[in-house]
Amino acid sequence: MGYFMKETAKLTYKEKSIELPVTEGTFGEKGLDISKLRATTGLITFDPGSVNTGSCNSSITYLNGEEGILLYRGIPIEQLAEKSTFLETAYLLIYGKLPNQDENKYFSESIINHSMLHESVKDFYSGVPATAHPMAVCSAVIGALATFYPDALDPRNERHVEISIHRLIAKLPTIAAYSYKKSIGQPFMYPDDSLDYCSNYLRMMFSVPCAEYYADPVIAKALDVLFILHADHEQNCSTSTVRLVGSSMANLFASISAGISALWGPLHGGANQAVIEMLQNIHEDGGNINKYIDKAKDKNDPFRLMGFGHRVYKNFDPRSRILKKYCQGVLDTMGVYEPYLEIAMKLEDIALKDDYFIEKKLYPNVDFYSGIIYRAMKIPLNMFTVLFAIGRLPGWIAQWVEMHRDKHFKIGRPRQIFTGAKKTHYEPIEERQ
Ligand code: ACO
Repeated sequence: MGYFMKETAKLTYKEKSIELPVTEGTFGEKGLDISKLRATTGLITFDPGSVNTGSCNSSITYLNGEEGILLYRGIPIEQLAEKSTFLETAYLLIYGKLPNQDENKYFSESIINHSMLHESVKDFYSGVPATAHPMAVCSAVIGALATFYPDALDPRNERHVEISIHRLIAKLPTIAAYSYKKSIGQPFMYPDDSLDYCSNYLRMMFSVPCAEYYADPVIAKALDVLFILHADHEQNCSTSTVRLVGSSMANLFASISAGISALWGPLHGGANQAVIEMLQNIHEDGGNINKYIDKAKDKNDPFRLMGFGHRVYKNFDPRSRILKKYCQGVLDTMGVYEPYLEIAMKLEDIALKDDYFIEKKLYPNVDFYSGIIYRAMKIPLNMFTVLFAIGRLPGWIAQWVEMHRDKHFKIGRPRQIFTGAKKTHYEPIEERQ
């Protein structure tokens, strides 16, 4: 599927011309293959932020930013959100097809069986302050898991990779819930094998040993859909990080730990927390939406409308459409009044009619509405990005596995255009100004 060459492009530099092969993907998207560029011309490309650079071939996720299309292994995100489950979608992404009944049973049972943490992992939590951001804790604990499984870390050993995949998907919700329990001083709750993935996570988050807990199926289902919507998004910042770290043959735990760190930033996964902080500011500031629209447009003001804009989507993010619909449904079912939803909808309405946002093609992204649903679920603000990480985990894994099987596999190592000092000499300290 995809990837074949039929055209070339000519590049002329000074008196020399070279033919560059044009590669073409499944949907006709084209790219210049510059892999021989430096060897034949001495030139490299310069592309800050990799805006025009394809770093790999991939058959996992297709996204068309102009038309607002998102497909996982060919299946539209809308169908998966409506019909699939998170674990089934995880299987689809990682193994390339929807599981049959036996595969589904085996995969789900294996995930349930691996959800407990080694008792010593709990000691890591004693070493961090209660105020620690859970993203920092999750990244550290995932990295530390490698120390518990030293015999199963070889990226070239299929059995090692398989068991690491199951361990990661099974344990991240437990690790995440423990980071929250630590922050509020409550005892850690062991996973419960009788529950589905999301109910189990909610129970570990919100139950205490001295009381009965019932995970609301409406909330569990909404969380499952949120995880599906976040499960992969091709070569974004955190996924590219996972690939880059993995390209050094670092183990899967180390690669995923780095991905969690990349996701934490407010320009990436951290935006879901930043959106709520922004809506809160607007609310506390008397709900003056136009003031914030003006701030976002002001070149001298660093403020940006959080949850708006996307490197790839220049149209509605299809995930935000699904979430907007879900948002109202979840709030209605739970009987929750959410003032931030009202502000968000007005903000979206004004922004979508404003020339600045129209010209720059800035639309709501997935983070714009996800935070409002998390709030309704009583998920604490600093856990929002952690939920993004749980959802994105299968995508990171699928991309890491695909990279290792790629016949073009190479360690990732970009070049640079050096702009620093020319060769100089070491000056003794007493002679320095
Ligand atoms: N509010 C106001 N102006 C914006 C916004 C915004 N949210 N986003 C982009 N712009 C403007 C920029 O100022 C820039 O204007 P200019 O051309 O006059 O300089 C233009 O639109 C293009 O913006 P860039 O930052 O160059 O676009 P890029 O593709 O690099 O960035 C990004 C995309 C980081 C998502 C950006 O839109 C942004 O900062 N959005 C807010 C943060 C956010 O919601 N992040 C979540 C992304 S989704 C995800 O990671 C899951």
